[in-house]
Amino acid sequence: MTSVLSGKKVLLGVTGGIAAYKTTYIVRLLIKAGAAVKVIMTPAARDFVTPLTLSTLSKHPVLTHFTNEEDENDTWNNHVELGLWADLFIIAPATANTMSKMVNGNIDNLLLATYCSAKCPVYFAPAMDLDMYKHPSTSANFDKLAAYGNLMIPAGEGELASGLSGKGRMAEPEEIIHFIEQDIQSKLVLHGKSCVITAGPTYEAIDPVRFIGNHSSGKMGAALALEMVNHGARVILIMGPSAVKVEHHLIERIDVKSAQQMYDEVHKKITQVDIGIFSAAVADYRPANPVDQKIKKKADTLHIELVKNPDILSSVGALKNKPFLVGFALETENELVHAFAKAEKKNTDLLILNSMRDKGAGFGVDTNKISIIDRDKNVSDYEIKPKSEVAKDIVNEIIQRVL
Ligand code: PMT
Repeated sequence: MTSVLSGKKVLLGVTGGIAAYKTTYIVRLLIKAGAAVKVIMTPAARDFVTPLTLSTLSKHPVLTHFTNEEDENDTWNNHVELGLWADLFIIAPATANTMSKMVNGNIDNLLLATYCSAKCPVYFAPAMDLDMYKHPSTSANFDKLAAYGNLMIPAGEGELASGLSGKGRMAEPEEIIHFIEQDIQSKLVLHGKSCVITAGPTYEAIDPVRFIGNHSSGKMGAALALEMVNHGARVILIMGPSAVKVEHHLIERIDVKSAQQMYDEVHKKITQVDIGIFSAAVADYRPANPVDQKIKKKADTLHIELVKNPDILSSVGALKNKPFLVGFALETENELVHAFAKAEKKNTDLLILNSMRDKGAGFGVDTNKISIIDRDKNVSDYEIKPKSEVAKDIVNEIIQRVL
């Protein structure tokens, strides 16, 4: 499952407390989530966990000093660059001493210099004995750090290194990662919004071994699903037969075969969501009488009677409380004329036009070339791009209109 931490650049600042031994697990969880991790330790932290362990796990040298004294060139560890590199900075464990210095801008080591240079969100996970945790100066420092915009991951209760029991135990590594993931998620622009996306082809059975289908791969719909969840939306992906894999904890995938099944699944969910994106290539007709046994080769010609499938997009467009509706149009000629007609008939808020006449656009390929048509018939044309980038353009247009 993809985490919101995937692809993020994370600085982990380790200070001198016994909970430092747990940072090995924090690094492992961050790496497992797909983040790039660099570790800075205070000199005192090196007494609690070895830099070798953390550099092995993070796959980067662990930094403590402003210069690398063991390096024959004595290179400079640039705290400003480190601060700018990071998408987020986690200080764990955060000792009372380091927090006090963070509050007062007292910069006597690389970790504190980087903290003061960082422009990214800073999370801190305090860890100390229970009486230190309760001390008025510690509480005041928590408040000041929060007032500066830092985010505290509260300590838990339990057995402490002193042998006493109470509040001050650093949050467990899993809790720290979960806290950060939830925080990032809650700040995404589409957090709290939900969406149904249809994708892929439909297969309309002729007999048990044959069907009427089309060349849609599901790639465009999958890219849209991932882009929507990257912005925090919850997605129900209703997918015709497709080999494309899409995994994310915010995506519920429902596999269907026929247009009728897709219609049924869409109507079970559509009234619960804010946005509907219809990128599936749905068969307009299906065999009127699919048979139970394989049709034998006999006559020179075979006639299959077809009946119309329900139009899923139109049926949603006709709902009284329809969601914000994005339709697609795949055309082969007179593209704009047909697209305008579809937008009107199907009552879409945005219509995404792609043409089979454009090389590298439409079915199966990894790229697409689209035009976006809004309710006022404004047309925006886009260059040919990977479908992941096309999805970004479409989702940006949606965001501008639904927020
Ligand atoms: O899956 P890929 O290989 O990545 O290819 C992507 C794509 C080419 C399939 C995609 O970009 C695309 O154009 N999807 C719509 C294809 C299509 O069937 O277009 P249409 O013009 O026939 O349909 C118009 C709209 O009505 C579409 O939103 C379609 O999902 C919807 N529709 C059509 C018929 C029907 N019975 N029910 C529907 O909901």
